[in-house]
Amino acid sequence: MAKFIINGGKPLKGEINVSGSKNAALKIFPAALLTGDTIEISNVPEIEDVFRAQEMLSFLGHEVKKIKSGSFEIKSGKSKCFDLPANLVNKFRASIMFVGPMLASYGKVKFSHPGGCVIGAGTRPIDLFLSGFKKMGVKVKISGKNYFLNVSKLKGMNFFFSKVSVTATESLMMTACLASGETILKNCAMEPEIVALANYLNDCGAKIEGAGTPIIKIKGVKKIKGGKYKIIPDRIETGTFAMLAAAIGGDEILIKNCNPNHLEAVWALFDKIGVNYSLGKNEVKIKRSKKLLACDITTHEYPGFATDLQSPYTVLMTQAYGSSLIHETIYDRRLLFTDMLTQMGADIIMADPHRVVVNGPTKLYGRKLVSPDLRAGVSLIIAALIAKGKTEIDNIYQIDRGYEKLDKRLRNLGADIKRID
Ligand code: EPZ
Repeated sequence: MAKFIINGGKPLKGEINVSGSKNAALKIFPAALLTGDTIEISNVPEIEDVFRAQEMLSFLGHEVKKIKSGSFEIKSGKSKCFDLPANLVNKFRASIMFVGPMLASYGKVKFSHPGGCVIGAGTRPIDLFLSGFKKMGVKVKISGKNYFLNVSKLKGMNFFFSKVSVTATESLMMTACLASGETILKNCAMEPEIVALANYLNDCGAKIEGAGTPIIKIKGVKKIKGGKYKIIPDRIETGTFAMLAAAIGGDEILIKNCNPNHLEAVWALFDKIGVNYSLGKNEVKIKRSKKLLACDITTHEYPGFATDLQSPYTVLMTQAYGSSLIHETIYDRRLLFTDMLTQMGADIIMADPHRVVVNGPTKLYGRKLVSPDLRAGVSLIIAALIAKGKTEIDNIYQIDRGYEKLDKRLRNLGADIKRID
């Protein structure tokens, strides 16, 4: 497996560009199945999960053409098959996003349980998707790990999400665009990627109201046209680089091509821990901070503190003065990576699977590590850049799933990081 070799302990400085949002891109490719027209997508992060989504579209018989770096054209044809290939489905969680559009356009689909990061209890449940589809009139048959769904005509319905779910909100929202009648979704997720998807679909003829609020109303339409979609900046990359800069920044690190408005929970926290930062329209400037103070966090759905930023923040807290309680409320296994930080010298006590206490500041030392999921993987890179000595991080496919040319961008900041294929 490919790995990173990192020699840490050196302050970083310079500029780093943020890519297009992985979690926005992974919904717009499946949305291409809603239209028989051509769609053009720009600012696409060229990452493993996006390659898998493109492979899925091609497998289903749609033409995906690269126009230039980061820009793709999708000529949506007629799907030639209705079985999502298991070898692709089990590679990434967002494969579930193809199910709704397949039902909306073809009335049938077969798939196995979606894969992805090992961060959720068991196998990342999809019960919310299935109960939503059933309410739209879809017949669901389950045999073993396979799901067989079919419907003659999707009908609008009222649905309350028993749990706030980003992909379930996006899936039912986009599927309802071609259902007959009105759909009202309540207790929706409010992430910026959901707003971006709704704006795009409305530009293509959909009638969606309320995206970004807990109640979304969708009036079914006969047809969704093709259109142009520029992917929004990746707010998780932005927050991760900001924490990297706060932890190991030298004079100044400039984070570019981002949208600071999507990270108000982070800036409020930075004010409390004493990070020296300033916000521009599409950039964040982080200067060396004198003394970082420990501060508790609880992860929460947007606009709260994002669960995807919990792991880089935990690494930052190993360098802050005092004790911080990190409470991960969304996923059961997202704190397990802290045992690797402890091996590097961090002082972390696991209170229970959802809570750790970090005491800082502590010196960190290079170790041989394995990346468990993409967000923890990048956090181990931050820890390795702080640590004295050499660190080896294995299984970096997990990191390549969500970060484009990360080692190259970090070398631009002066990081000593090499990829060994
Ligand atoms: C999305 O995952 C993101 N992935 C995740 O990013 C992100 O961490 C998460 O939202 C929360 O913000 C994509 O957008 C591709 P959920 P998603 O459904 O939609 C439970 C990353 O690193 N749930 O909002 O899968 C679920 O178990 C990834 O980029 C059900 O119970 O997350 C979890 O506890 C990791 N039944 C909670 O909801 C369902 O049918 C929130 O999960 C669906 C979800």
